[in-house]
Amino acid sequence: MKKIGVLTSGGDSPGMNAAFRAVVRTAKTLNMEVMAIRHGYKGLIEDDITKVTPHDVSNIIQRGGTVLKSARCDEFRTKEGREKAANVLKKHKIEALITIGGDGTFQGATHLANEHDINVIGVPATIDNDLVGSDETIGYDTALNTAMEAIDKIRDTADAHDRLFLVEVMGRDAGFIALETGIAGGAELILLPESLTDIDDVKASLNEVLSEQRRSSLVVIAEGDDTGGALKISEELKPDFSKYEMRVCILGHVQRGGNPTARDRVLASRLGSAAVSVLNEGHSQVMVGVVNNKVKLTPLKMTFGKKKDINFDLLELAKTLR
Ligand code: F6P
Repeated sequence: MKKIGVLTSGGDSPGMNAAFRAVVRTAKTLNMEVMAIRHGYKGLIEDDITKVTPHDVSNIIQRGGTVLKSARCDEFRTKEGREKAANVLKKHKIEALITIGGDGTFQGATHLANEHDINVIGVPATIDNDLVGSDETIGYDTALNTAMEAIDKIRDTADAHDRLFLVEVMGRDAGFIALETGIAGGAELILLPESLTDIDDVKASLNEVLSEQRRSSLVVIAEGDDTGGALKISEELKPDFSKYEMRVCILGHVQRGGNPTARDRVLASRLGSAAVSVLNEGHSQVMVGVVNNKVKLTPLKMTFGKKKDINFDLLELAKTLR
């Protein structure tokens, strides 16, 4: 393996830069040339590719976002789009591709590998933490801390006004952020896509906590909760909770930005480096993850074909502690 490509794709996550840096610097030790593909699969199709050296990735380990840029690319979902991408890779004599992203990124990489005989390795990076094969994904820890700090601040103002706050956090299919920020922020109630939300149960639980004369109450809701999110729930609650002042706060993309935490930088450095090593050992169509603090390989197709389990013990814990 002499020449490899690297890209970031899908929603960005803090630590993607640290992973890119680790890819470039590890490749150097194995005498591999690295081609940086900007704007994910879109940039690959459009031939937005430049050679990078270890010096080019200086001073990025601490930066959020992705210097490689990212995109969600509909064209790459088609066979024709992937054929264009494969031709660009061939033109540059790129023998393998390291894709840093989430399940959609890995699904695309798998199709590319199967249709055009290209070696691909996945590095799990998404704030959602929803990938089977890694205890944590790059960016999750940073997003958790960002959301928790926001919730702490909301709690201050909620407490000052004796208000009921509905806080929506990201996670369109997964409740990892909601569950852990809910516990860390002492939420009275946590609603997740992984468990069906019954609005009558929500009302009963809120009545219970509000009857204890709490000064403020906070409900953390995952974006993908089946009720349709915080705004929808507030509409449903309003008639029964009119004597309480209720406010909705949707944290949104603030959760995707910011400098990565130390934990995310270390995880990204480990996984970016491992991606190059396993490619050099001849692996393909696998994701490098960390399970019980050891680097582990998982077939790429499992990462988008299977849903990662949420820890329901934590949900019980949240109920006990509210
Ligand atoms: O990257 C994951 C994620 O942040 C989800 O939690 C969220 O639903 C989605 O991306 C938002 O994507 P976009 O930035 O494309 O609107």
